[in-house]
Amino acid sequence: MLLEIPGVLNRAQLDKIDQVLANARFVDGRLTAGMAARRVKHNQELEREPKTMELLIRILVSALSHNETFNSAVLPYRMADPIFARYRPGMTYGDHVDDAIMGRSGPRFRSDVSMTLFLRDPESYQGGELVIRTTFGDRRVKLAAGDAVIYPSSSLHHVAEVTAGERLVALAWIQSHVRDPARRELLYELNRAREALLKRAPEEESTALVDKSFANLVRMWADV
Ligand code: NI
Repeated sequence: MLLEIPGVLNRAQLDKIDQVLANARFVDGRLTAGMAARRVKHNQELEREPKTMELLIRILVSALSHNETFNSAVLPYRMADPIFARYRPGMTYGDHVDDAIMGRSGPRFRSDVSMTLFLRDPESYQGGELVIRTTFGDRRVKLAAGDAVIYPSSSLHHVAEVTAGERLVALAWIQSHVRDPARRELLYELNRAREALLKRAPEEESTALVDKSFANLVRMWADV
Protein backbone atom coordinates (compact mmCIF):
# COMPACT_ATOMS: atom_id res chain seq x y z
CA MET A 1 0.00 0.00 0.00
CA LEU A 2 1.21 3.42 -0.94
CA LEU A 3 -0.26 5.97 1.43
CA GLU A 4 0.11 9.73 1.71
CA ILE A 5 -0.07 11.09 5.26
CA PRO A 6 -0.71 14.83 5.39
CA GLY A 7 0.52 17.10 8.17
CA VAL A 8 2.98 14.81 9.95
CA LEU A 9 4.96 17.93 10.87
CA ASN A 10 3.42 21.33 11.59
CA ARG A 11 4.90 24.69 10.60
CA ALA A 12 6.62 25.18 13.98
CA GLN A 13 8.33 21.78 13.69
CA LEU A 14 9.35 22.49 10.08
CA ASP A 15 10.83 25.85 11.13
CA LYS A 16 12.73 24.20 13.98
CA ILE A 17 14.19 21.60 11.60
CA ASP A 18 15.20 24.38 9.16
CA GLN A 19 16.89 26.21 12.00
CA VAL A 20 18.85 23.12 13.06
CA LEU A 21 19.84 22.32 9.46
CA ALA A 22 20.89 25.88 8.57
CA ASN A 23 24.44 25.38 9.86
CA ALA A 24 24.66 21.60 9.49
CA ARG A 25 27.11 19.84 7.21
CA PHE A 26 25.98 17.54 4.41
CA VAL A 27 28.14 14.77 2.96
CA ASP A 28 28.03 12.61 -0.19
CA GLY A 29 25.01 10.28 0.02
CA ARG A 30 26.98 7.42 -1.54
CA LEU A 31 28.60 6.83 1.87
CA THR A 32 25.41 5.21 3.19
CA ALA A 33 24.40 3.37 0.00
CA GLY A 34 24.58 -0.38 -0.56
CA MET A 35 26.63 -1.71 -3.49
CA ALA A 36 23.89 -1.61 -6.10
CA ALA A 37 22.39 1.72 -4.97
CA ARG A 38 25.79 3.46 -4.93
CA ARG A 39 25.96 3.41 -8.74
CA VAL A 40 22.72 5.40 -9.12
CA LYS A 41 22.74 7.56 -5.98
CA HIS A 42 23.64 11.18 -6.39
CA ASN A 43 22.55 13.30 -3.43
CA GLN A 44 23.80 14.66 -0.13
CA GLU A 45 22.99 13.54 3.39
CA LEU A 46 23.23 15.22 6.72
CA GLU A 47 26.44 14.37 8.53
CA ARG A 48 25.67 12.27 11.60
CA GLU A 49 26.70 14.74 14.25
CA PRO A 50 25.22 13.34 17.52
CA LYS A 51 23.79 16.58 18.96
CA THR A 52 22.11 17.66 15.73
CA MET A 53 20.76 14.17 15.07
CA GLU A 54 19.37 13.86 18.58
CA LEU A 55 17.40 17.07 18.20
CA LEU A 56 16.03 16.15 14.77
CA ILE A 57 15.18 12.60 15.76
CA ARG A 58 13.28 13.84 18.80
CA ILE A 59 11.08 16.09 16.62
CA LEU A 60 10.46 13.36 14.07
CA VAL A 61 9.86 10.46 16.43
CA SER A 62 7.47 12.44 18.61
CA ALA A 63 5.49 13.58 15.53
CA LEU A 64 5.29 10.04 14.15
CA SER A 65 4.38 8.42 17.45
CA HIS A 66 1.39 10.78 17.77
CA ASN A 67 0.21 10.26 14.20
CA GLU A 68 -2.72 7.84 14.16
CA THR A 69 -2.65 7.18 10.41
CA PHE A 70 1.07 6.36 10.52
CA ASN A 71 0.65 4.00 13.47
CA SER A 72 -2.38 2.27 12.02
CA ALA A 73 -0.90 1.87 8.52
CA VAL A 74 2.66 0.92 9.51
CA LEU A 75 2.15 -0.93 12.83
CA PRO A 76 5.72 0.14 13.71
CA TYR A 77 7.95 -2.19 15.66
CA ARG A 78 11.47 -0.81 15.16
CA MET A 79 12.77 2.19 13.31
CA ALA A 80 16.27 3.22 12.25
CA ASP A 81 17.56 6.72 12.83
CA PRO A 82 16.19 8.79 9.96
CA ILE A 83 18.39 10.21 7.22
CA PHE A 84 18.08 13.80 6.03
CA ALA A 85 18.76 14.01 2.30
CA ARG A 86 19.30 17.04 0.11
CA TYR A 87 19.10 17.28 -3.67
CA ARG A 88 20.44 20.32 -5.49
CA PRO A 89 20.15 20.97 -9.23
CA GLY A 90 21.50 18.03 -11.22
CA MET A 91 21.10 15.57 -8.33
CA THR A 92 19.03 12.42 -8.63
CA TYR A 93 18.69 8.90 -7.24
CA GLY A 94 18.15 6.26 -9.93
CA ASP A 95 15.99 3.14 -9.68
CA HIS A 96 16.85 1.03 -6.65
CA VAL A 97 15.33 -1.05 -3.90
CA ASP A 98 16.12 -0.15 -0.28
CA ASP A 99 18.38 -2.39 1.78
CA ALA A 100 16.53 -5.30 3.43
CA ILE A 101 18.50 -5.20 6.69
CA MET A 102 19.06 -1.86 8.36
CA GLY A 103 20.76 -0.52 11.48
CA ARG A 104 24.51 -0.49 10.95
CA SER A 105 25.43 1.04 14.31
CA GLY A 106 22.56 0.03 16.60
CA PRO A 107 20.43 -3.13 16.64
CA ARG A 108 19.71 -4.65 13.25
CA PHE A 109 16.20 -4.89 11.88
CA ARG A 110 14.29 -5.65 8.69
CA SER A 111 12.94 -2.80 6.56
CA ASP A 112 9.27 -3.39 5.78
CA VAL A 113 8.04 0.16 5.22
CA SER A 114 9.91 3.10 3.68
CA MET A 115 8.90 6.66 4.44
CA THR A 116 9.74 9.93 2.72
CA LEU A 117 8.82 13.05 4.65
CA PHE A 118 8.89 16.20 2.55
CA LEU A 119 10.49 19.23 4.21
CA ARG A 120 10.29 21.86 1.45
CA ASP A 121 7.30 23.47 -0.22
CA PRO A 122 6.88 21.82 -3.64
CA GLU A 123 6.80 25.20 -5.38
CA SER A 124 10.30 25.99 -4.11
CA TYR A 125 12.05 23.41 -6.35
CA GLN A 126 11.58 21.81 -9.75
CA GLY A 127 11.71 18.05 -10.37
CA GLY A 128 12.56 15.86 -7.39
CA GLU A 129 9.45 13.68 -7.54
CA LEU A 130 9.67 10.33 -5.78
CA VAL A 131 8.64 7.80 -8.42
CA ILE A 132 7.43 4.47 -7.05
CA ARG A 133 6.92 1.60 -9.47
CA THR A 134 3.75 -0.26 -8.51
CA THR A 135 1.82 -3.04 -10.21
CA PHE A 136 -0.66 -0.32 -11.24
CA GLY A 137 2.06 1.74 -12.93
CA ASP A 138 4.41 4.48 -11.77
CA ARG A 139 3.24 6.78 -8.98
CA ARG A 140 4.90 10.20 -8.88
CA VAL A 141 4.85 11.77 -5.43
CA LYS A 142 5.78 15.32 -4.51
CA LEU A 143 4.01 16.54 -1.40
CA ALA A 144 3.61 19.68 0.68
CA ALA A 145 6.18 20.40 3.39
CA GLY A 146 5.30 18.31 6.45
CA ASP A 147 3.50 15.58 4.48
CA ALA A 148 4.82 12.02 4.23
CA VAL A 149 4.39 9.05 1.93
CA ILE A 150 4.84 5.45 3.05
CA TYR A 151 5.30 2.45 0.74
CA PRO A 152 6.55 -1.14 0.98
CA SER A 153 10.36 -1.23 1.18
CA SER A 154 10.27 -3.98 -1.44
CA SER A 155 9.21 -1.49 -4.15
CA LEU A 156 11.53 -0.29 -6.88
CA HIS A 157 11.69 3.53 -6.81
CA HIS A 158 13.77 6.53 -7.83
CA VAL A 159 14.00 10.28 -7.31
CA ALA A 160 13.64 12.38 -10.45
CA GLU A 161 16.40 14.88 -11.13
CA VAL A 162 16.07 18.23 -9.38
CA THR A 163 16.43 20.94 -12.00
CA ALA A 164 16.03 24.06 -9.82
CA GLY A 165 15.87 24.86 -6.11
CA GLU A 166 16.55 22.37 -3.36
CA ARG A 167 14.71 19.19 -2.37
CA LEU A 168 15.03 18.34 1.30
CA VAL A 169 13.47 15.21 2.80
CA ALA A 170 13.69 13.00 5.86
CA LEU A 171 13.80 9.27 5.18
CA ALA A 172 12.93 6.50 7.56
CA TRP A 173 12.73 2.71 7.40
CA ILE A 174 10.54 0.80 9.73
CA GLN A 175 10.16 -2.84 10.69
CA SER A 176 6.46 -3.48 11.09
CA HIS A 177 4.84 -5.84 13.56
CA VAL A 178 3.23 -7.31 10.44
CA ARG A 179 5.71 -8.22 7.72
CA ASP A 180 3.38 -8.85 4.77
CA PRO A 181 2.20 -5.65 2.98
CA ALA A 182 -1.13 -7.24 1.98
CA ARG A 183 -1.89 -8.15 5.60
CA ARG A 184 -0.90 -4.66 6.78
CA GLU A 185 -3.25 -3.11 4.25
CA LEU A 186 -6.10 -5.39 5.32
CA LEU A 187 -5.52 -4.51 8.99
CA TYR A 188 -5.36 -0.80 8.17
CA GLU A 189 -8.71 -0.88 6.38
CA LEU A 190 -10.36 -3.12 8.95
CA ASN A 191 -9.15 -0.79 11.69
CA ARG A 192 -10.71 2.19 9.92
CA ALA A 193 -14.03 0.36 9.71
CA ARG A 194 -13.68 -0.65 13.38
CA GLU A 195 -13.05 2.94 14.50
CA ALA A 196 -16.03 4.22 12.52
CA LEU A 197 -18.25 1.55 14.06
CA LEU A 198 -16.97 2.26 17.58
CA LYS A 199 -17.97 5.90 17.10
CA ARG A 200 -21.31 5.32 15.38
CA ALA A 201 -22.66 2.19 17.01
CA PRO A 202 -20.55 1.33 20.06
CA GLU A 203 -23.27 -0.84 21.61
CA GLU A 204 -24.00 -3.05 18.61
CA GLU A 205 -22.98 -6.68 18.57
CA SER A 206 -21.52 -6.38 15.06
CA THR A 207 -19.19 -3.62 16.33
CA ALA A 208 -17.92 -5.92 19.07
CA LEU A 209 -17.36 -8.69 16.49
CA VAL A 210 -15.35 -6.42 14.18
CA ASP A 211 -13.35 -5.15 17.17
CA LYS A 212 -12.64 -8.71 18.29
CA SER A 213 -11.71 -9.86 14.77
CA PHE A 214 -9.29 -6.96 14.36
CA ALA A 215 -7.55 -7.69 17.67
CA ASN A 216 -7.32 -11.39 16.90
CA LEU A 217 -5.98 -10.88 13.37
CA VAL A 218 -3.23 -8.67 14.82
CA ARG A 219 -2.53 -11.41 17.38
CA MET A 220 -2.41 -14.02 14.61
CA TRP A 221 -0.02 -12.06 12.36
CA ALA A 222 2.11 -9.88 14.64
CA ASP A 223 5.81 -10.45 15.29
CA VAL A 224 6.99 -9.01 18.57
NI1 NI B 1 15.24 4.42 -1.60
